[in-house]
Amino acid sequence: MTTTETPDTLRRILDYSSRADPYPLYAELRKTPVARQEDGSYVISTYREITDILHDPHLSSDIRNLSHPTAGAEEQTTPAFINLDPPEHDRLRRMAMRHFGPPHTPGLVTGMEPALSSIVGGLIDDFAGKEQIDLVDDFAYPFPVTVICHLLGVPREDEPRFHLWVNDIIDSIDYNPKTDPKEKLDNGIQARKDLRQYIGGLVEQRHGRPGDDLLSRLANDDGPDGRMTDEEIVATANLLLIAGHETTVNLITNGMLTLLRHPQVLQRLREQPDLVVPLTEELLRYEPPVHIIPWRAAYSDITVADTVIPKGSQIMLMLASGSRDPNRFHDPDRFDPDRRDNQHLGFGSGIHLCFGGPLARRETQIALTELVRRVDRPRLVADPPQYRRSPVLRGPIHLHIEQNGN
Ligand code: HEM
Repeated sequence: MTTTETPDTLRRILDYSSRADPYPLYAELRKTPVARQEDGSYVISTYREITDILHDPHLSSDIRNLSHPTAGAEEQTTPAFINLDPPEHDRLRRMAMRHFGPPHTPGLVTGMEPALSSIVGGLIDDFAGKEQIDLVDDFAYPFPVTVICHLLGVPREDEPRFHLWVNDIIDSIDYNPKTDPKEKLDNGIQARKDLRQYIGGLVEQRHGRPGDDLLSRLANDDGPDGRMTDEEIVATANLLLIAGHETTVNLITNGMLTLLRHPQVLQRLREQPDLVVPLTEELLRYEPPVHIIPWRAAYSDITVADTVIPKGSQIMLMLASGSRDPNRFHDPDRFDPDRRDNQHLGFGSGIHLCFGGPLARRETQIALTELVRRVDRPRLVADPPQYRRSPVLRGPIHLHIEQNGN
């Protein structure tokens, strides 16, 4: 029998007290690969079942197909393609991918390598003399937002404003109604509006004066799928920013934390920088930034592992649990950068497979290599560190590191 109610295990996973180490609870959850919850939603926790669902055309990413749409459904004006199904999803993704770049075409990301190295170098220069740094505030947080500004073509003088909006939006995603002032939520809503308006303004300008950046290309492209409307461009730019920010922050921070917990691997990376490629894949499996895809909606009744999931049900996919499934990965709780056959679920799978994967990988690879090379004798100040609230996008809120042997 696959369907049992496991409300307690899920409740404990979502509870903040398990944020530092949810993995033993995932193991408990995997005893019931398809678990029906009291509210009628389903939680899927094993590798095979998660992969099957991500490839099943009867599943929708469009919130409007849930029989009980969750909060936020009405807030969406023009949904971005992460929340759309084929054919709309495919059309918009193709149009964005044409310019974004690898793996399918050489695009803007391919030419960004020198910019990535220079941003990383500059951030490390800024904390070179300090005895203690916060890897999140001093490095991992500013890095991806600066990269996305370059990519979109946000003028340098507007970057500080752009950073502030992003901070407010990300802060509001981590909102806790029990402890946080409502102001935090309101700031997030206002920042979303301001950001949309700002990007809309840039798109208008780029119609007349195109540069070599993503917004210009999207605004002026007449490719095989035609042109995106201005609203679609704004929704896409917002998506790239939101989907690509905290995820990358968390991968870099979780990465450094994992290296500091495995000093022999850190030393190997210092001596053998190429190790960073398989090491980054192993991080995406072992300490991934995205732990949960909070919902997919069933278009029709579907059967998963002998369980019938009725049409309209909400399905929650426990990606981080799937990547630790012992039926798929040998010795899954071991951090092993030499692991072969590492088809993790860190970027999802199927038609919504992370669009920014090639960029996120390069950002993380350059960041970790340079941090390990340049930060002298790094040591954790506290372990475990304090985590952000979210069980979905999981990562430390600060990561204090001592350096220079002090
Ligand atoms: C989708 C993870 C970085 C843009 C996804 C999905 C995951 C994911 C798990 C699948 C969501 C689903 O199936 O519903 C990550 C991780 C990242 C990262 C772990 C960093 C380490 C980025 C970056 C960008 C980006 C840097 C863009 C600049 C997107 C977009 C989608 C997506 C646009 C939607 C794709 C679609 O619907 O076709 N990402 N992401 N991501 N990601 Fe990422």
